[in-house]
This record gives sequence, structure tokens and C-alpha cells, in this order.
Amino acid sequence: MTSQRRFRIAAIPADGVGAEVVAAGRTVLDALAAASGGAFAFDWTEFPWGSDYYAEHGVMMPDDGLATLQDFEAIYFGAVGWPTVPDHISLWGLRLRICQGFDQWANVRPVHFLPGVVSPLRKADDTELDWVVVRENSEGEYAGLGGRNLSARGAGGEVAVQSALFTEVGCERIIRFAFELARTRARKKVSSVTKSNAQQYGMVLWDDTFRRVASDYPDVETESVLVDAMSAKFVLHPEDLSVVVASNLNADILSDLGSALAGSLGLAASANLNPERRYPSMFEPVHGSAPDIAGRGVCNPIGAVGSAAFMLDHLGLHDEAARLGKAIEATTGAGVMTPDVGGTATTADVTQAIIDHL
Ligand SMILES: NC(=O)c1ccc[n+]([C@@H]2O[C@H](COP(=O)([O-])OP(=O)(O)OC[C@H]3O[C@@H](n4cnc5c(N)ncnc54)[C@H](O)[C@@H]3O)[C@@H](O)[C@H]2O)c1
Repeated sequence: MTSQRRFRIAAIPADGVGAEVVAAGRTVLDALAAASGGAFAFDWTEFPWGSDYYAEHGVMMPDDGLATLQDFEAIYFGAVGWPTVPDHISLWGLRLRICQGFDQWANVRPVHFLPGVVSPLRKADDTELDWVVVRENSEGEYAGLGGRNLSARGAGGEVAVQSALFTEVGCERIIRFAFELARTRARKKVSSVTKSNAQQYGMVLWDDTFRRVASDYPDVETESVLVDAMSAKFVLHPEDLSVVVASNLNADILSDLGSALAGSLGLAASANLNPERRYPSMFEPVHGSAPDIAGRGVCNPIGAVGSAAFMLDHLGLHDEAARLGKAIEATTGAGVMTPDVGGTATTADVTQAIIDHL
């Protein structure tokens, strides 16, 4: 008799469609486990943290929240943010607290084109376009350094300073991660993105580090592109992209552009990785809580299910991750799609179709 592998996963659906897509992802993963003939199973613990929790307790998660999460093998996250709580409080109180507290310094966000999904890109073809945005996820513009002051000057007189932090260690580890990822891909190329013409300190340190690290990878093609030019390149020459590495803010913006080009924000998956595995990593769709469509059962679960595939890979279930990727492609290829990508299916219909295609 073979022993069963059990994976302890913390689920944090949080707000809005986060709850709907996490439920969909859990259903798919449990179906996969049920079909494994007892080889593996998921032990889920769900945490009610988010904006409702804030209304009751005045905090987005308990003080010992990170210590509680530390014991899990991975975190499966929905989306945080609701109109009742200022966005900077909800984001810093939960998602950024977990990402930074667990040093999840690499955020991997593929721009993946699916069969059957119409892209606004004229050149789009799911057999040719495929790139990954690698986002520095621990410092940069989201380091949280700064403050507000001088409110005593009265209305209109306050000042705010928001500083970006670039460390050579932080730049080097994410750039090296991008090169290692590029070596696993058909096109071995890394595009580095900064705004170093205008931001002459942190981003020039990034550029210098990029050049230094690149010399260790002579087999990988490179380019350095300013973020404004890169946003145009995403639209005009996406066929020239493979791995795009950028700072926290720049990669956040570029990855939303990428997922919109692939058809919808609802399709985009992501992994927040602590590559050294000192802390649990966190898997979540790129999109937010979508208050405009929450509670209607029509949000796209593919971003969250794709993130679950990332989680399977992270847990060592590589064949299952590949099967899940193929099931997503078969589902969109068969035209089972939610309204954001032009379909009429519900969240539940798409979830069931993915399970049927496993
Ligand atoms: N990682 C996160 O937790 C995260 C990320 C981004 C935004 N937010 C928060 O989410 C809230 C709403 O932000 P927003 O409106 O700027 O971004 P959003 O991603 O929630 O929504 C942007 C647009 O995309 C659509 N969309 C998003 N997810 C979808 C899905 N699964 N299926 C179909 N359509 C989908 C929405 O309907 C909306 O039109 C805010 O509070 C914001 O702070 C959280």
C-alpha cells in the first residue's frame, strides 16, 4: 500500500470575487486529489481575514496571523479590497503584509494566450505569444517607506514623501531568478525594464546589476528597455518577449496590461514565491476583488485555477499541474467562457468544465 501525501494549505479568499474564485480553485484541486487514487489530498484551513474581518476587529488579520500561516505548505489567496475600507489599509494589512513578512520576493505572472479567447491584439495567436513577467515583490516602489507631515499648515498644506528602495541584493536575486527562468524556456531571453533615464539612483543600480548578472548567462539574450517603451512593445512586438523582469510597480502595471492583451484580467495567474522555502509561498490570481461583478456568479475562475496549477508545481505535483493547464486550454478551446471573455458561462460552469477535462 502506498502512503498518501497530504498537503496543508491555508486558504484566504478575502473579499469580493476572491471568495468565488478560491472556492472554484479548491473544487478543482479536490477533484484532482479525488481522482489520484489516494496518492495525495489537500488539508484546507480557511481564514476569514479581509474587509469584513476589519469591520469587526479593526485589523485585516490578527497580530499573530503570520505565525499561524508559517506552518502551512502554501497559501491560496483570493483578492483583497472592498469599498468600505481604504485600499491602502486593506492591501497593506493583508496581502502586502504576507508577501513582505514571508519574503516572497519573486512574483511570477505569465501572460498566457488561451485557445478560443479573442485578444485585442491583431497579431495574437496562442501558439506564438507567451511571455512571463517577473516582478520584484519585496522592495522597490512598494517598500512602504515615507510619511505624511505638516498637516498643521492647514487644508492644502500637507506634504507626503514616498520613497522607493533598491538594494543590490534585492535587484540581483530577482534578476538572477529571471535568467534561470529564461534558461527553461524555448526563447532564452530576458528583457529588463526600468525608468533609469529619469530615476537615476535606484534604477541605475538595477541596470548596473542587470549587466553584471547577465555576464554569468552568455547563453541568454538580453535587452534593457524603459518602461514607457516596454508598454508600447507589449502591444506592438509581443512576439519578441520571453521573460520580462521589472520592479514592483512597473511589473504590477505591465502584468495587468499583459493579461488584458491576453483577453481579460480574470485569466491571469500568479505565484508569490519565497524561492529559498524558508516561508510558505502564496498563489493568487492577478486580479482584484472586482466589486462591480462580485456575488453574481459570473467571475472568471481561470486566473485562480491557473494559480492553483502553479501551487501544484510548487508542491512537486508536476504532472498534475500540466494536466490542469491542459484542462484550462480545453475548456476555453471548447468555448466554455465567462462574460469577460465574451462567453455566457457562469463561474460554476467553467469550473465544472475544467474538472471534466482533467
Ligand atoms: N491582489 C489583490 O488582492 C488586488 C489586486 C488588485 C486590486 N485589488 C483591490 O481590488 C479592488 C478592486 O480593484 P480594481 O477594480 O482596480 O481591480 P479588479 O482587478 O478588481 O477589477 C478590474 C476589472 O477587471 C474585472 N475583473 C477582475 N477580476 C475578474 C474576474 N475574475 N472575472 C472577470 N472580470 C474580472 C472587474 O470586473 C473590473 O472590471 C480594490 O479594492 C483594489 O485595491 C486587490
